[in-house]
Amino acid sequence: MRRALSSLRSPTELDVQHFASIVGGANVLTAAADLEPYNTDWMRKYVGNSQLAVRPGSTAEVSRVLAHCHAERIGVVPQGGNTGLVGGSVPVADEVVLSLGRMDRVLSVDEDSGHLVCEAGCVLEALQEHVAARGHTMPLDLGAKGSCQIGGNIATNAGGLRFLRYGSLHGSVLGLEAVLADGTVLDGLTALRKDNTGYDVKQLFIGSEGTLGVVTACALALPRAPASVHLALLGADSYAALLRTFGVARRRLAEVLSAAEFLDRASLELACEKLDGVRDPLPDTKCAQYMLVEVSGSDASHDEAKLSAFVDEAMESGDVVDGTIAQDGAQSAALWRLREGITEALGRTGRVYKYDVSLPLAQLYDLVEETRARMAPHGALVSGFGHLGDGNLHLNVCTPGAFDADAAVAAAIEPWVFEYIAERRGSISAEHGVGVMKPHVLHLSKRPPVIGVMHALKRLLDPHGILNPGKVLPPPPEEERPWRTAS
Ligand code: FAD
Ligand code: MLT
Ligand code: ZN
Repeated sequence: MRRALSSLRSPTELDVQHFASIVGGANVLTAAADLEPYNTDWMRKYVGNSQLAVRPGSTAEVSRVLAHCHAERIGVVPQGGNTGLVGGSVPVADEVVLSLGRMDRVLSVDEDSGHLVCEAGCVLEALQEHVAARGHTMPLDLGAKGSCQIGGNIATNAGGLRFLRYGSLHGSVLGLEAVLADGTVLDGLTALRKDNTGYDVKQLFIGSEGTLGVVTACALALPRAPASVHLALLGADSYAALLRTFGVARRRLAEVLSAAEFLDRASLELACEKLDGVRDPLPDTKCAQYMLVEVSGSDASHDEAKLSAFVDEAMESGDVVDGTIAQDGAQSAALWRLREGITEALGRTGRVYKYDVSLPLAQLYDLVEETRARMAPHGALVSGFGHLGDGNLHLNVCTPGAFDADAAVAAAIEPWVFEYIAERRGSISAEHGVGVMKPHVLHLSKRPPVIGVMHALKRLLDPHGILNPGKVLPPPPEEERPWRTAS
């Protein structure tokens, strides 16, 4: 991970001075201790060797920094909240870290049409609080909300807990401002609902993980905050029973169903063991599988009645063996903490191999069971949870110790897990992205002509390959390679 990117050069003291003249000396970090958090990802799995982090305060400053890096062939890693789970936000060598955290202004909220315009460095939770005070809600929510930034969310096309209700950011992002590698500012910061004037260029930046441009601001569609929200946790003895229950939820809850998340027993036990204050909400029945079902709407008694009728039907069918409906905000928060805290709990077990997978719903949990069987000789803990309503499994294999300690475990998982997904025409990355973790297996989810188009777009928008080198794209064929790794 510390290889030099041979056609890119390392920044020098002169570059530091130039960046300081753009963003101010206090916003150019060069001390090793200051740089440590910028060089290390959330999981402490990927570590870069950047000697320089630059913190611009405006789009114009981003543009000038990039123009210099483009002219001088200096690699750049855009960084938001650094909560990404595929190593996309940290350098692979000594690229400049371009940290968006200072660009955290809300520019406007339109309560009539329901949209927000803000800078890319706004933290998701701060935006949620800002719009909630105005009767609206953000169209996305995720466990990392306290740190992740809206620019990072857009750059990764983050999914999360509200995807079932509000869909993808490809729909919620109404307008975008992005800066290309050469410093060109693409101002597409309109908030029009309808605009069919040719190619929808902003879509290229949603999910491009900082490889095509730097997102500096966005306009987002804001749903009205639901007047009523109710939550239930249901336990089942098998994944098949859980899936049947999800079918009942879709039929009975229909328009008020707003989230359907699942976690297996291993995930629940891990969260209870590792997180302060988290308890098993259904301690009398040790179920194999759990589902969180949220309803939200505009009429509390109607929504509550629908949820109760659904829970009754699910229990009468025998598929649900235990369950609870949260009676107040505190109980809801405790149930969400259990689900959202799994990632943090996993992080406290030692080394975690994380896979973020889309598969046909009926086959989703087979992968966890097959992985568990493969891992049994290695004594690894395997946990499965995720966004049931989106067909998105988070498969985690945990062993104590450091990442490079046990090559046998890694070899038993990869490439088998990626090939398993490809054979079923699933996706090797449902919502976390490709980052530095998965370029070598991108071909298992995307056909060669599609990867060819991706390379062509990269060459067009970033001809010197300065933006997030080593991420997302596999190395192109030798003759058209814009950068090479030193051996
Ligand atoms: P970073 O981690 O800083 O960056 C991620 C990628 O985006 C990098 O490639 C980076 O170069 C690029 N980037 C960042 N900002 C910009 C910008 N302004 N312009 C261009 N490129 C940029 N993800 C989900 O999809 N769903 C979940 O439910 C979910 N839950 C999570 C829970 C926890 C506890 C954690 C730790 C992570 C979770 N994630 C989830 C993953 C992660 O939080 C998301 O991918 C998030 O969107 C990343 O935002 P960030 O600001 O931290 O971006
Ligand atoms: C989640 O849904 O909690 C996340 O995507 C994080 C994870 O996969 O660990
Ligand atoms: Zn997720």
